[in-house]
Amino acid sequence: MLKFSDVNMSFGSVTALKDVSFDIDKGELVYLTGPSGAGKTTILRLLLREFKPTSGKIIVNGQEIQDLRRKDIPGLRRSIGAIFQDYKLLFDRTVAENIAIALAVKGVPENEWFDHVHDVLKMVGLPKQSELFPSQLSGGELQRVAIARALVVNPKIIFADEPTGNLDWETASSIMDLIYGANDHGRTVIVATHHPDVLKRRKGRKIELKKGKVVADTK
Ligand SMILES: Nc1ncnc2c1ncn2[C@@H]1O[C@H](COP(=O)(O)OP(=O)(O)OP(=O)(O)O)[C@@H](O)[C@H]1O
Ligand SMILES: [Mg+2]
Repeated sequence: MLKFSDVNMSFGSVTALKDVSFDIDKGELVYLTGPSGAGKTTILRLLLREFKPTSGKIIVNGQEIQDLRRKDIPGLRRSIGAIFQDYKLLFDRTVAENIAIALAVKGVPENEWFDHVHDVLKMVGLPKQSELFPSQLSGGELQRVAIARALVVNPKIIFADEPTGNLDWETASSIMDLIYGANDHGRTVIVATHHPDVLKRRKGRKIELKKGKVVADTK
C-alpha cells in the first residue's frame, strides 16, 4: 500500500534520508522512531508529496508519486489523514469550520457537513466545543480537533507526526487511543514519535531511523 524503494533525500548539503526502503501493508500500525533529525518527518512529507525525493521510488495506493503531476497531488492528499504536532488549524475559524473545510475539500455536499462534524466531535470528546475558536482550547483539545479533521473524511491512511508532543501522559494516552481506534477500523496508521511510552502503549511495527538510515525494522 505504501512503499519506499531506495529513497534518498538531500536538502542542499544535508542528507535527510539515505537509501530508505520499506513496504507497509494495508491495515498495519507502524511507528517511525529514532532521534531528533533522524528523518521521520521527512518521510511523512515525502509521502504527502510536499517535495520530491532526490532519488528513489515512492508508491502510495499503487501509484508512483515521486513524479506525480501537480494536478494529481490534491487527490493523493485526500487519501491521507495527516495529523501534525503544530495542528495546522486555522485560528480565525471555529472548531466546526476547521473540520468542515476538510469535508468541503473532499467535495462532500454542504447539507451533510453538520452531521459529520457533530459525529466526529463526539467521537473525539469535544461535542460542546464546536463553536469555539482554536485560541480558546487547550493543547490536548487542539490535538483532538486535528484528529477529528483528519478522520472526518474517512481516509485509508492516517499519519500522525509526534501526536503526543508536549501533552501530559493521561492526555497523550487518550489521543493515542483515538489513533489506535482508526487502526482498529482497518486504517493504515503511521506514527512518528520518539516517545518510548507511546511505543509501549500498543504493539506495532517499528521502523527505526538513525541519521537518515533505517537501522531496524521489526516487520
Ligand atoms: N526543508 C528542509 N530544509 C533543510 N533541511 C531539512 C529540511 N527538512 C528537514 N531537514 C533536515 O533533514 C534532517 C531530518 O529532519 P526531520 O525533520 O525529518 O527529522 P525528524 O526525525 O522528524 O526529527 P524530530 O524528531 O526532531 O522531529 C534534519 O537534519 C533536518 O535539519
Ligand atoms: Mg519530526
